Amino acid sequence: MARLSVLWLCSQAAAVYGVTFNIPSAPPANASTQLAAAPVGVSFEFFTFPGYMNDVASTKQCLQNLKDLTGVWPPIRIGGTTQDRATYDASSPNAVTYTVASPADAPASLTYGPSFITLASQYGGKVILGLNRRLNNLSNTVAAAVLAKSKMPNLDSIELGNEPNFFSNSDPIAQRRTWNAAADYASQVAWQNAVCGNLSAEGIISAGVYFGTSPMSIAGLAAVEGSANRFVKEYCSHNYPQWSGTYNLTRLMHHGEIASQISGFAGDVAAARAKGKPHIFGETNSATQGGGGISPTYGAALWVLDYIMQTVLMGSQALYFHQGTIGNCQYCWWGRYSMGAPYFGAYLATATLAGADKIAALDSKTTSYAGYAVYKDGRPIRVLLYNSDYYTSGRRSSQAFTLVGLSGASSVTARRLTAASATARVDQGQSPTFGGQTFRDGTCEMQGAAAVETTAVDDGGRATFTLQASEALLITL
Ligand SMILES: *[C@@H]1O[C@H](CO)[C@@H](O)[C@H](O)[C@H]1NC(C)=O
Ligand SMILES: *[C@@H]1O[C@H](CO)[C@@H](O)[C@H](O)[C@H]1NC(C)=O
Ligand SMILES: *[C@@H]1O[C@H](CO)[C@@H](O)[C@H](O)[C@H]1NC(C)=O
Ligand SMILES: *[C@@H]1O[C@H](CO)[C@@H](O)[C@H](O)[C@H]1NC(C)=O
Repeated sequence: MARLSVLWLCSQAAAVYGVTFNIPSAPPANASTQLAAAPVGVSFEFFTFPGYMNDVASTKQCLQNLKDLTGVWPPIRIGGTTQDRATYDASSPNAVTYTVASPADAPASLTYGPSFITLASQYGGKVILGLNRRLNNLSNTVAAAVLAKSKMPNLDSIELGNEPNFFSNSDPIAQRRTWNAAADYASQVAWQNAVCGNLSAEGIISAGVYFGTSPMSIAGLAAVEGSANRFVKEYCSHNYPQWSGTYNLTRLMHHGEIASQISGFAGDVAAARAKGKPHIFGETNSATQGGGGISPTYGAALWVLDYIMQTVLMGSQALYFHQGTIGNCQYCWWGRYSMGAPYFGAYLATATLAGADKIAALDSKTTSYAGYAVYKDGRPIRVLLYNSDYYTSGRRSSQAFTLVGLSGASSVTARRLTAASATARVDQGQSPTFGGQTFRDGTCEMQGAAAVETTAVDDGGRATFTLQASEALLITL
């Protein structure tokens, strides 16, 4: 009798510290809207695009690995700071022409020729092409847009300028006047009219392209679009949660911190929807200005994973994770010689959402412990669990997650994302694994034996899973 009550007390204690999620048998009211076929995309810094395609062997395979999960090539965006330093040169035989003092530098000025557009036209997925507005050469941007429209069957949309919130009064586009939100909004609308007038096209501009939400915002721009809203394909925000002075991996990957970091974009997502247009994060990644050592880590992969889930739940349609200067890019998913750990987060996020209709949050985003149910044809098909407690060394804590409401099968299978610690880096000899597998340095081919875990489901439709600190688990129902 005494022994029984001790056992009972222990199980009560475990229940207090464990997390229990009920899996709704149909998408709940707070589930996402319909998911895109390929919400996880890649952004290539404008001047690096030919290099990534022609000189980096992993590029095609890393994109193909994601396509193999969804059946659709991930969407790409070509743009960034150097799009607003680029001038189209119809007579150039080269895709890009520039000089830099060191290979680690981005060019201060460059030209690109028709073969740049030809290369973009050869990609198997949708492409957003970022064109120049900062230099105020409208006829030049119109010439490039006309070529892109005629040569690229995969053209999704065109950006007119990158992060104009960082343009200054001395940039040519400001025409010696004050560059502020009102000036940018008027300029964007005028350029949309001129470019789309020459293209005889509607629904082809990726509008906004703001870093953050202040002083320029999607909500502010959308409010003055007027009839030019018909030219807009989607409204676009850029987001980097951390920058020099704020680097903190514990916070970057924390489930509740991610929720609060993205919350500022909810108004812009709603403003786009009110205009009948999707919202995207057309350029995003973990940390700017070199990333302070946190960007190449496994913890950043966990950020990629949870950030994708939370932003699509908020109603954003797709995210384009930025790939910068080849050989000088902390947050990149792959390079010439080594994989970047964050790619594992992108791979698992893509696997989680592949072929799905909706995702629903199972928790209220106030703790480190996250759960998502993924739905297809009205029924749950997968559950993603995430333990965002930060682990570096010493004893590794773990957390029990109990799922309730699993109907049907007597067992489920799962694949685990793990690594030696949140600070693990592939280029320092510590690759994460997903379902026991890794990606080969230099080629991005999946390698190693697949490891699938099987967990029993009891007669009441209940199963318990254990995740160590800094782990995620994808359960197939
Ligand atoms: C076409 O582009 C030119 C700039 O090259 C611009 O001046 C003109 O207004 C545009 N045409 C239309 C119909 O918008
Ligand atoms: C604008 O682009 C055209 C080519 O389209 C070029 O001839 C001209 O020099 C450019 N203007 C400036 C100010 O760079
Ligand atoms: C990072 O943030 C966590 C949680 O706010 C804090 O405990 C930790 O001291 C910070 N680490 C650094 C290196 O600032
Ligand atoms: C969504 O609703 C469920 C109840 O259906 C609730 O348990 C969950 O916390 C909610 N999620 C969010 C993110 O509000």
